[in-house]
Amino acid sequence: SFTPRVFSGIQPTGNLHLGNYLGALKRFVDWQARDAETIYCMVDLHAITVWQDPADLQKSTRELCAGFIAAGLDPENSILINQSQVPEHAQLAWVFNCVARMGWMQRMTQFKDKAGKNAQNASLGLFAYPALMAADILVYHATHVPVGEDQKQHLELTRDIATKFNHDYGVDFFPITEPVIEGAGTRVMSLRDGSKKMSKSDVSDASRINLTDDADTIAKKIRKAKTDPDALPSEVAGLSDRAEAKNLVNIFAALNNQSVEEVLADVGGKQFSEFKPMLAELAVAKMSPITTEMARLMEHQDEIDKILARGAERARAITAPILRQTYDIIGM
Ligand code: ADP
Ligand code: NA
Repeated sequence: SFTPRVFSGIQPTGNLHLGNYLGALKRFVDWQARDAETIYCMVDLHAITVWQDPADLQKSTRELCAGFIAAGLDPENSILINQSQVPEHAQLAWVFNCVARMGWMQRMTQFKDKAGKNAQNASLGLFAYPALMAADILVYHATHVPVGEDQKQHLELTRDIATKFNHDYGVDFFPITEPVIEGAGTRVMSLRDGSKKMSKSDVSDASRINLTDDADTIAKKIRKAKTDPDALPSEVAGLSDRAEAKNLVNIFAALNNQSVEEVLADVGGKQFSEFKPMLAELAVAKMSPITTEMARLMEHQDEIDKILARGAERARAITAPILRQTYDIIGM
């Protein structure tokens, strides 16, 4: 039977948080447990599409690798890599820069959001980012790409690039990859503002639970999370228009591997003064092993560097032949 090949990546830009864990890392671990070949990437080449301090980038890359492992990714099972250490990503991206059309790239909403009003001053790399993402995926002939809703347009572009390449060269070489869009229910919102997603780039540290926070900090951030004065409802419908309340219940459900219905059946009628300590206890119980292991690994950077070197070697056994075949098709 057919074994799915799963690829996904995260930018090493620091402040890895609970949203990254529940929305990405925990799902990566679920894929690893299935009958799938799993490849997970720290996408440093994507990170430098906007300015990164060199020392911070290096630290964030190791920290992200530590986070992957601490969250449960096994480097003997999954292939864990840092993008720049597998040069075929960038080499195939150049080919795709020549396949993708300017008009396609100009429609990308994430570029418009990230470049803002001053698009003339954005890097060329930020504009070309989706072609590199297509290369990240297709250089492995990956079949499944678990990503958030915000990456859907980039995955459609990946399919367009594969289709055009196959058509232009008259081959059936690159697969048309299926997106595995994670549900909106898995989106973790800011602890300070229920209308914004929890994000690495939020200036308020209290808005997120970092994977580097200790137990006391995690508990304190949950105690201080924004809520409303009402008791918890016993039905999901009672959470509509209560973004902050909904977020805390969602987090509880995700951490406890329960549905929101199941959580509300237990806690409906309770005040936040009672629910928050329950959530804090759960979050500390689930996150402490991860934060502790991450901190341990950060004391052994040689261990991390070895894992990434070995991951690059395993990755290149896949990517080098695919790039070679691509060049052959093109006549290079
Ligand atoms: P950020 O937006 O914090 O910079 P990234 O864009 O690097 O995070 O996202 C890395 C991964 O984590 C992606 O798969 C993304 O979908 C997921 N992710 C990021 N923020 C959240 C969130 N608040 N809730 C759920 N998943 C998230
Ligand atoms: Na696997």
